[in-house]
Amino acid sequence: NKIMRKGIILLGGMGKRFLPATSIINKHLIPIVDRPMFHFSLSTLMLAGIKVINIVSNNETIKLIKKSLGNGNKYGLNLSYTIQEKPRGIPEGISLSKKFIGKSNFALMLGDNFFYSSNLSNTLTKISRSHKNTLVTYKVSNPSEFGVLIQKRNKIKKIIEKPKKFYSDLVVTGLYFYENEVVNLLKYIKPSRRKELEITDLNNIINKKKKLYHYELERGSVWLDSGTPENHIKTTEFVRIIEERTNKKIGLIEEVAFQKGFISKNSLKKIIKTTNVSNTNLIYLKKIVK
Ligand code: G1P
Repeated sequence: NKIMRKGIILLGGMGKRFLPATSIINKHLIPIVDRPMFHFSLSTLMLAGIKVINIVSNNETIKLIKKSLGNGNKYGLNLSYTIQEKPRGIPEGISLSKKFIGKSNFALMLGDNFFYSSNLSNTLTKISRSHKNTLVTYKVSNPSEFGVLIQKRNKIKKIIEKPKKFYSDLVVTGLYFYENEVVNLLKYIKPSRRKELEITDLNNIINKKKKLYHYELERGSVWLDSGTPENHIKTTEFVRIIEERTNKKIGLIEEVAFQKGFISKNSLKKIIKTTNVSNTNLIYLKKIVK
């Protein structure tokens, strides 16, 4: 149904900037501290209150993730998987998920994006429940590396993908909330110069034909993308510092599932007993179920 928003996590791309690691392993499986990178995306969707999630990636990666997360029931989730043979761009993640989406609204999240803020769960839940096409935006010092959002009289004028010229420091992050109608607009986009379907093209079409909104994350919120070795180290350091200082974990799906009420205390206890949890995480989770 429409009320329940579904989620898609995209673990695609060539990972060219992360070679030679990515000649063996999908970029999104590389750990940040002790969690695979994509667990942070998964937990972000969970914080938005989304439980029914489709993971899109290549065959090998899906096999590995299936082995580790299965159908997600353990975490109160309903996980499904779709194979993307070759990375042909972010919007392909939507077209490949058409069956999964059905008549629902959905959120799309890139597996290398990282969000941290004190009220992330509330913010994202509100956006998700508003059932509008909403981009999550953020001000950065290096806008030319992202999709840049240009406004006119408080409305989105257009988005320009990685412009060399400076237009604005407000950029589009890799978390998109869409209404079901977006599925019907996919047919209007064509492959770009880098021979991929571009999410920015889709967003510009939504802006023209339907309504497109954006939500700028408040000052104090953190958005990082961990898709290059340098950025990956930055994210790792950020997570490590916050976790050490606050004694609270970021993106630990067992904890998020419990805090969001997806699973009971007893289920968390069971997970602690039966799953492969490291000693540090075990001690941490035990404190939570006390
Ligand atoms: C993609 C989008 C870009 C967005 C970015 C966020 O870029 O095309 O608009 O700002 O994700 O991570 P890509 O990672 O494909 O270069």
